[in-house]
Amino acid sequence: MHKIAIYNNKGGVGKSTIAVHLADALRRIDLKVLLVDLDSQNDCSLFLGLKEEPENTFFNLIDYRYPANLSECVTEVRENLDLLTNRNYELIEKDLHRATRIDNFLDKALKDAAKTYDYLIIDCSPSRSIINSAILFYVDSIIVPTQLEVASIRGFSDIYNYLNDLEIDTAKIKLVVPNMFDARTKESQDNLKELESIFEEDILTEPINRRTKITEASKAGETIFEYDTDTQLEQFYNLVERVVKLG
Ligand SMILES: Nc1ncnc2c1ncn2[C@@H]1O[C@H](COP(=O)(O)OP(=O)(O)O)[C@@H](O)[C@H]1O
Ligand SMILES: [Mg+2]
Repeated sequence: MHKIAIYNNKGGVGKSTIAVHLADALRRIDLKVLLVDLDSQNDCSLFLGLKEEPENTFFNLIDYRYPANLSECVTEVRENLDLLTNRNYELIEKDLHRATRIDNFLDKALKDAAKTYDYLIIDCSPSRSIINSAILFYVDSIIVPTQLEVASIRGFSDIYNYLNDLEIDTAKIKLVVPNMFDARTKESQDNLKELESIFEEDILTEPINRRTKITEASKAGETIFEYDTDTQLEQFYNLVERVVKLG
């Protein structure tokens, strides 16, 4: 099972969008996917059109009195795609603060996942938090979506510093995904060039264009693969190919 975090310390860059689309694309090629939403906003549920809050969430997995099994906490949102939502975010943080080790916290909580899934994708909150630290320890790969703005590009040093502070090898950052690219603007083009000068080709992916349909699809609780198959989807497929190649 390949464990992937979709992380950036900035909000609104497309983390949840990319987490959801990657999950949907992988399950469409018959891979079993668990999408874990560990951002308190639970946008993955929204973007996938989950109507009701599941009875059990991540919190029940780590409930020390009545721990639930993983299978009791996930919701099948599509064929081959299960979603694990969260609630009581502050209590999860509290638990982590009390834990003796955070580097294996998720290994324990998600110990059964490898039996069922090929991919485990975690949507993160945009912060330096104890939950994110536990996630970054746990995963094999980190994918960083970024917007093509000067502030977003400057923010990369914070992400690298964060990993260094945790003594996590920064080589865990496997892909950087420029999102909301607008070829008509100089800002997008200049910042894409800037990213190309910072990152090697094997890390930097093709940009994903800014498309109104993506926002519309999310609002409708669908992925773009379901909402509008006329939209050029190659950019997403390229991303999926790059992810599959990571192994
Ligand atoms: N490529 C894109 N084109 C158009 N809108 C996008 C694109 N990527 C994300 N969005 C929209 O931008 C907003 C923020 O994206 P989201 O995935 O929620 O970011 P994050 O999880 O990083 O906060 C959402 O409304 C989403 O629908
Ligand atoms: Mg999000």
